[in-house]
Amino acid sequence: MKKLKWGMIGGGEGSQIGPAHRLGSGLDGLLEFTAGALDHRPEQGIEYGQRLGLGDRAYGGWQEMLEAEKQRGDDKVDLVTVATPNSTHFEITKGFLEGGFHVLCEKPMTMTVEEGEEIVKIAEKTGNICAVNYGYSGYSLVRHMKAMIARGDIGKVRLVNAEFAHGHHADAADAENPRVRWRYDPALAGVSAQFADCGIHAMHMASFVTGQEVTKLSADTVSCLSQRVLEDDAMVNFRMDGGAVGRLWTSSIAIGRQHGLGIQVFGETGGLRWSQEQPNQLFYMPLNQRLQVIERGEANLSPEADRTSRVTIGHAEGMPLAFANIYTDLAEAIQARKEGRAMDPAADLYPKAVDGLRSMAAVVAVAKSGKSDGVWLDARPPMFQ
Ligand code: NAI
Repeated sequence: MKKLKWGMIGGGEGSQIGPAHRLGSGLDGLLEFTAGALDHRPEQGIEYGQRLGLGDRAYGGWQEMLEAEKQRGDDKVDLVTVATPNSTHFEITKGFLEGGFHVLCEKPMTMTVEEGEEIVKIAEKTGNICAVNYGYSGYSLVRHMKAMIARGDIGKVRLVNAEFAHGHHADAADAENPRVRWRYDPALAGVSAQFADCGIHAMHMASFVTGQEVTKLSADTVSCLSQRVLEDDAMVNFRMDGGAVGRLWTSSIAIGRQHGLGIQVFGETGGLRWSQEQPNQLFYMPLNQRLQVIERGEANLSPEADRTSRVTIGHAEGMPLAFANIYTDLAEAIQARKEGRAMDPAADLYPKAVDGLRSMAAVVAVAKSGKSDGVWLDARPPMFQ
């Protein structure tokens, strides 16, 4: 099979998320890093791209890359990842989708619900794939958890408890640091800081593993550092369309917590618990039996877990490999389209534009509810109400 060609916007030298995308996209030999506009500073972007082997396909800006790649016909990049700051996602994603490219956009997909709906519609109209990088849904044992819940291992889901709490913005003396400050500035971050940055990962994971969508929510948001306009901590209660009750805590002032993403799902006949900092173990407690530790890579896991696990049992698989699973899914989706065949349904688990849109609607509801003493609000985007 010929390798697909992959390009990236953003993710320049020193960026936080660029390296994980390069590792993830390259891991299985399905995609080749071919083009990029990697930096908001054109010269640095070209120089870094050339150092990474992109040659004359290292571009100074995303519009330049879009126009040049369109001219290449069949030789153009097959997939473009958008890994720039949030406020640029909409225009870049829209531009590439309309230009005939498949896109993987970083989260949050857009800054507003209206933009999110527009992206969903453009993806539908053009027929191009628009995925959103809820990359943690690529972990092998998260896929296994989803499969276990779907086949009824814990019975009907009663309660989901999701967390994404870290402590890296807790230092009041560091609050004016330019890398921290913009996140709490409404002009740059939008209506929400911590929920939009981290909470949406936890909420997406709650939907992903249960197969249920969030319908309504009530939020208690707070700025623990009083000078912050936007929240640095939120507790969100929610309800899901399959009847599950949801609880979600997200924080950036939880000193001692590192990445802090985790999920627990409790059903009528069992419970499941997984934490991203120990991603190779899934804790499973069937009702009235003993606690079981499921290890990534062990025998008799679900096909969904087997196809997303590469290294033998006992060796840790981490975040870039979870991202790699999103890329493997996308490579299969793109290859199937090229060959005019149906895609492998097991690969159809990558997060889609509708997931990005649902997150934006939840972000807006959390911000509004938080300002109104936790009033319960519809959390669905208008097109799904
Ligand atoms: P960063 O600030 O570390 O890096 C951003 C990069 O984009 C820089 O190299 C910058 O030069 C480049 N850039 C900015 N504007 C550009 C433009 N118009 N054209 C081309 N390049 C441009 O940001 P970070 O932390 O890497 O975040 C990027 C995105 O990834 C954000 O949307 C963030 O929310 C998301 N993210 C997602 C994570 C996940 O787990 N899925 C984790 C961390 C970040």
